[in-house]
Amino acid sequence: MSELSDIARALVVPGKGILAADESSGTIKARFDAIGVESTENNRRDYRELLFRTPGASEFISGVILYDETIRQKAADGTPLVKVLTDQGVRPGIKVDVGAKPLAGAKGETITEGLDGLRERFAEYKKLGAQFSKWRGVITIGESIPSWYCIEANAHALARYAALSQEAGIVPMVEPEVLMDGSHSIDRCFEVTVTTLRAVFAELHRQRVRLDEMLLKPNMVLSGKSAANRAPAAAVAEMTVRAFKDAVPAAVPGIVFLSGGQSDDEATVNLDAINRHAAKVGAPWELSFSYGRGLQAAPQKAWSGKAANVAAAQKAYHHRAKVTAAARQGRYDVALEQS
Ligand code: 13P
Repeated sequence: MSELSDIARALVVPGKGILAADESSGTIKARFDAIGVESTENNRRDYRELLFRTPGASEFISGVILYDETIRQKAADGTPLVKVLTDQGVRPGIKVDVGAKPLAGAKGETITEGLDGLRERFAEYKKLGAQFSKWRGVITIGESIPSWYCIEANAHALARYAALSQEAGIVPMVEPEVLMDGSHSIDRCFEVTVTTLRAVFAELHRQRVRLDEMLLKPNMVLSGKSAANRAPAAAVAEMTVRAFKDAVPAAVPGIVFLSGGQSDDEATVNLDAINRHAAKVGAPWELSFSYGRGLQAAPQKAWSGKAANVAAAQKAYHHRAKVTAAARQGRYDVALEQS
C-alpha cells in the first residue's frame, strides 16, 4: 500500500471521522454574525483553537480540514495550530478551492475556481503539513437544472484538482455536493446524485487519478429541505447506499458525508441509518463523516465569543463528535444524547 492510501484509510478508520473547519472568511463571518461575534483574526483563531484543544475529541476525530488562514495560524501560546492537531494524532487537511462562482451561460449554476497556480499552492501546503485536501463542486437542483454542462464542467475541475493533489503527495477529498436547497423529491436527488457521481468518476479515470488514494465527500440522498413530505432515515439510507453502488468504484477507501444544512440531529440519525443499512446489504467502502455544521452548530452557540464559555463549547463539541462517531458505526442511540 502507498503512503497516500495509508493516509486515506487512516482518515476513515472505524470509529472516527473528519471535522470540516475550513469555512472561508465569508462563511465564518456569517456563522459568527449568527452568534453575535465579530469575525476578527483573533476571534477566528480562539474559536478554532478551542475546538482543536477539546480534551478527548481525538478519540473520534481523525482529521480536520483547515482554511488557508488557519493552516498558518498559531495558538494563543505560540504553538502552530497544525502542531496542536498532529500532537494528538489528528491529521491536518486544507481546502484548496477558492469558491463557487457563476458559470457563464448557465443561469443559477456555478463552477468552482482555484486551478490556476494550484501546483505551487499545493507545494506550499505540503510544507505547512497538509496530508489531505478538499475541493467542493456545487450542483443545484431546480426547475430545469442541473444542466449537463454544469455537471461536466465541475467534474472536470474536480478531477484536475485531484490529479494535482496526488502529484503533490496529498490525499484529495473530492466533494461534488448536490445541494439540498429546494422542494425536490428524494427521487430527484437520487437521479442527480447518480448522474453527478458517474460524471465525476469518468473524469477521475480520464485524468489518471488513483482511486485507492482519494476519498469521496458527497451529499446524502435526501428530500429537498423545503419538500412537503421529507423521506425518513430508512429511505435516505437505502437510496444513498444504492446511489453509491451504482456509481462509486469499490477501490475508493471511504465515503465521508458532508452535513450540508441538515440539523445536527438529522445528520447523525441519517449517518447511523446508512451504516446500519450498509452492514445489512454489504458495501465496499467505509461510510464516515466530514461535517462542518453538523459538528459545529452546538459549540458555536455555546461559545458565543465568550472566554467564560470555552469549557461549555468544548463539551458541546465533544458530545457531537462522540454521537457522530457512534453513528458512523451504526451504533447511535438516542440515550447517548443524555450521556
Ligand atoms: P457541512 O457539513 O456544513 O456541509 O460542511 C462540510 C463542508 O466541508 C462543505 O464543503
